[in-house]
Amino acid sequence: MPHPLDPELLAAAEAVRAKAYAPYSNFQVGTAILADDGKVYVGCNVENAAYPIGNCAEPSAIAAMLAGGAKRIRRVYTTGPGSSPVTPCGGCRQRIREFADPDVVVVSHGVEGMPLEQTVAQLLPHSFGPEFLGR
Ligand code: THU
Repeated sequence: MPHPLDPELLAAAEAVRAKAYAPYSNFQVGTAILADDGKVYVGCNVENAAYPIGNCAEPSAIAAMLAGGAKRIRRVYTTGPGSSPVTPCGGCRQRIREFADPDVVVVSHGVEGMPLEQTVAQLLPHSFGPEFLGR
């Protein structure tokens, strides 16, 4: 189900995507997070000449959320090139899961196509998380 704020999240993800530093893949990605404080936090991918240390857009947005004082993810909206949904990589699924309940929706959108909505539980079934460590 599309969320009433999705047009706003899409616009925020697209605005930050334009600032992505992706000269190696030429695959610019933007993420907008709706957080528990009602605010929207954004991040883009940041690549590096030492390829493996590049950052995805999702952890950039998570860092912005924490820096802004929010604690939990209520919705994620990621945009990228093309028409196939730009779904989070395995590591980013775990990073999102750290700060989101299982029913939180992650929208993946290749902006020339249709958005795909999946829950955290769908993206990362039977996942390990903070509660296993008593948190
Ligand atoms: N990328 C993201 O930032 N988020 C995703 O959800 C998929 C992939 C980035 C990582 C890399 O900079 C580029 O896209 C190509 O993989």
